[in-house]
Amino acid sequence: MHITIVTIFPEFFDSALSCGLLGQARERGLVSFSFVNPRDFAFDRHRSVDDRPYGGGPGMVMTLPPLKRAMQSIETPGQIVAMTPRGKPFCQSMAESLSHQRALTLVCGRYEGYDERFTSLFPVEETSVGDMVLNGGETAALAVIEATTRLIPGFMGHADSGSEESFAAGLLEYPHYTRPEEFEELVVPEVLLSGDHAAIAAWRRKKSLETTLARRPDLFDQVDMDRADMQYLASIMRQRMGRNLYLCLVHGPVRNKYGQDAVVSLTNLDLHDIARVSRTYGLGGFSVVTPLEDQKKLAATLLSHWTSGPGGQRNPDRAEALSLVSVHDRIEDAMHAVKAKTGQAPIVFATSATAEKTVSLRCVQHTLTTSPILLLFGTGHGLTEDTLEFTTGCLRPIRPFDVYNHLSVRAAAAITVDRLLGDVG
Ligand SMILES: C[S@@+](CC[C@H](N)C(=O)[O-])C[C@H]1O[C@@H](n2cnc3c(N)ncnc32)[C@H](O)[C@@H]1O
Repeated sequence: MHITIVTIFPEFFDSALSCGLLGQARERGLVSFSFVNPRDFAFDRHRSVDDRPYGGGPGMVMTLPPLKRAMQSIETPGQIVAMTPRGKPFCQSMAESLSHQRALTLVCGRYEGYDERFTSLFPVEETSVGDMVLNGGETAALAVIEATTRLIPGFMGHADSGSEESFAAGLLEYPHYTRPEEFEELVVPEVLLSGDHAAIAAWRRKKSLETTLARRPDLFDQVDMDRADMQYLASIMRQRMGRNLYLCLVHGPVRNKYGQDAVVSLTNLDLHDIARVSRTYGLGGFSVVTPLEDQKKLAATLLSHWTSGPGGQRNPDRAEALSLVSVHDRIEDAMHAVKAKTGQAPIVFATSATAEKTVSLRCVQHTLTTSPILLLFGTGHGLTEDTLEFTTGCLRPIRPFDVYNHLSVRAAAAITVDRLLGDVG
């Protein structure tokens, strides 16, 4: 493969392309490089390659005339890839596809980047190496070169080296260990010493799944998973995250339709449906908050009928779900109950159909991996301002931009729980 690098700083690449496996691949003639410097194609007194941006603003922009001449000087450009933070995220599958090319041209921007019309002059694929801004495209081009060239057959000593790595199968890779077997009381997982290849492979697959779930759940969208993978992921989500989630249905204080503080009656349907969601997703519990004595009595009657009473005896699945329900006077009491059960004070998040300042699902999911969360749902016209202010944050409303988003609280609870803990893949 021949790679042409278009850059105003060719010296940037001096050592990076000469060491390690890449240096060896160059010596063996597997990869070769050449440089084209747009400055060599700038013919004014200062050999300028940049100019001020139209519309004003800070910084300079790479101007087209020298860049176009530089590009036209390349005899065999092959596939042209330009580095820009606005590009498509570079990934393993792009590296894999580029590794089959005989020629590549990598264009490195500087300043505020190149004039947008560059992409109309040449068939350019724009790529970004991450959601951050570098000083120039040279570092990004190096990342593309490293990821791509190592996939050229013969580049790596062991033909399989690339096939098990992170992203190759869509997942992050399992962790590695080497000698010594014990280091400062840190030991190597026993299975890796067992010599049992099937057990080692199974352990590694599980570790890959766990790490990907914790760090890059977005990757699951592109992974082929079998039933065993899915079952394993579902069990982790249930055990690690689900059991940390506690739902809390608040009947008072909530807002009434006039925006006043009020207490709303509880309903049999809400109790059943939210309890069933809680059981299905393996949640830690479901608290019902009402300050009214008659409502608490009603809840106790319903719950005893459906757990230890005739309803529960006839329908043990329902009894299992409703046994997750506890009834409290105040939200603080529900919080204490979670603390008594888990030993940790829960972090309280709210839900609302209208909230503007919200926390992301990812933030809540992340919190669930380490601490219990009490997630409040309001009845009536939603939680009061005082309650919302007292919580750590509010989840983004469901369908916030539609004119109609009046879900029943049980539907909202089901959708929210599925967004937090729903099946992956
Ligand atoms: C200072 S940056 C320009 C950033 C640009 N004004 C923006 O906000 O999108 C200069 C050059 O560095 C390169 N660059 C910076 N960050 C990059 C990234 N994350 N991926 C790829 N190239 C990057 C690009 O070639 C870019 O033209």
